[in-house]
Amino acid sequence: VGEESPLNYDEIKAIADFLLSKTMYRCQIGIICGSGLSELGNLLENRTTIHYEDIPHFPVSTVVGHKGQMVIGLLKNVPVVCMQGRFHPYEGYPTWKCALPVRVLHLMGVKSLIISNAAGSLMSDHRVGDIMIIKDHISMPGLAGRSPLVGSNDNRFGTRFPSMQGAYNKKYREYALKIGEEIGLKDNIHEGVYCMNGGPVYETPAECRMLLNTLNINAVGMSTVPEVVVARHCGMLVFAFSLISNKCVMDTDSENSPNHAEVVAACASRKSDLKVFVERMVLQIYND
Ligand code: 6GU
Repeated sequence: VGEESPLNYDEIKAIADFLLSKTMYRCQIGIICGSGLSELGNLLENRTTIHYEDIPHFPVSTVVGHKGQMVIGLLKNVPVVCMQGRFHPYEGYPTWKCALPVRVLHLMGVKSLIISNAAGSLMSDHRVGDIMIIKDHISMPGLAGRSPLVGSNDNRFGTRFPSMQGAYNKKYREYALKIGEEIGLKDNIHEGVYCMNGGPVYETPAECRMLLNTLNINAVGMSTVPEVVVARHCGMLVFAFSLISNKCVMDTDSENSPNHAEVVAACASRKSDLKVFVERMVLQIYND
């Protein structure tokens, strides 16, 4: 893990050109579907589907509940490219590989990226099924030297030392809060700080207490940050949100424990709301 060298600019350009050759659409908006949003791609009109195993140099996703394909088509008449299935460090991928699709999207012409994930909430006023708009992050892998940008820097993508100030676009967050209210989710939509942990083990109760009480984190997951870092490095605008799939267990002696089935079920229960939410965000971003 982390030993192989990232693909170079020309190799990533070749992937982007390969994908562009499969469609006549030129998309300015990309969507990375986390758990619970993966069916969004199936709703695109006039769509082209490309399986990850058919894309040169592409990883394949290995997690139950995550497919592995890219879908290009129209969402409410807006051309979008949708990644159904993403890559996580816990699958054994180096973080640059987790974020490789973002560079591909960039070289396909995507300017704005919508990213979703399922996350555990540390907040007593969050409920399962709520949406948390991500306003900032703490990256445990990043702080520990596993940033996707580790290695030599190609200035054609971005600068050596990129800032993450304003990474989660303020205007997009404001749109999301407004849209959330308009579609009847006023009491189910929050803003917060997301923490990426390496997984695949869920946090212990002691870790959850540390994350909340010492680090002031609102929700935890195992994805998203590598993609955000690479997107910001190359100047894309980012909107990211978590679907709260479970509440973190804070009590060491509790009988409750987080499990993947609960996460998958929570995501399924919010599918139709999330679809409308993302459709509205796409329209708003497109007409910006
Ligand atoms: Cl509780 N923790 C992490 N790290 N990822 C999650 C989660 C919890 N729930 C869904 N994804």
